[in-house]
Amino acid sequence: MDFTDVIFSRKSIRSFSKKEIPSDILKKILEAGRLAPSVQNKQCWRFVVVQYEEIRRKLALKSGLIGKVNFFIKDAPAIIVACADPSRSVHLNTQDYYLVDTAIAFQQMMLAAWSFGIGTCWLAAFSEKKVKEILQIPNKIRIVGMSPFGYPKEKSSLYDKALKTFAGSKKRAPLEKIVCYDKWNL
Ligand SMILES: Cc1cc2nc3c(=O)[nH]c(=O)nc-3n(C[C@H](O)[C@H](O)[C@H](O)COP(=O)(O)O)c2cc1C
Repeated sequence: MDFTDVIFSRKSIRSFSKKEIPSDILKKILEAGRLAPSVQNKQCWRFVVVQYEEIRRKLALKSGLIGKVNFFIKDAPAIIVACADPSRSVHLNTQDYYLVDTAIAFQQMMLAAWSFGIGTCWLAAFSEKKVKEILQIPNKIRIVGMSPFGYPKEKSSLYDKALKTFAGSKKRAPLEKIVCYDKWNL
């Protein structure tokens, strides 16, 4: 897929087929994260790739911020948890750059995945405590986000459709509402 096609066609996927991701493709997806830019090239990100079915099930059914909101990730053949070690990053202008760096790397991985026809969905609605327990992630590490990685099902689920409607996923503010030129004018 052409790069602009990747950007313009990407959408969150919440219905997955059980088809495995070939290991060479998964490696390329991880490489896309590894090559991301980061503040002072600190590379504070760490990724846990969960493929073992029992652990995926635990994440799907027991990691939700509220109940089983993340049940839809159970069929995806891989769940990647994007972590960061804040002690390896930088705090500038009262901003924690481990969040920025890890989000950039994770999004690069998601776009690379989409270029191979693999869908993803950023998740914030998880309990960091529960995910850390399930994956034995040390206290000093923060979880920035997680996402299922898998081939989209041909027909998306009712939950997928409902969530897209609820989130108004197709809507974006027009450029004139989010961009100004030369000085602040928004
Ligand atoms: C940081 C972040 C957190 C998100 N958390 C969730 C989530 O917990 N559950 C979910 O179903 N979607 C989640 N989303 C997906 C958004 O709902 C989705 O990106 C938005 O509605 C736009 O739709 P699109 O990705 O299909 O373009 C999240 C997206 C981002 C960027």
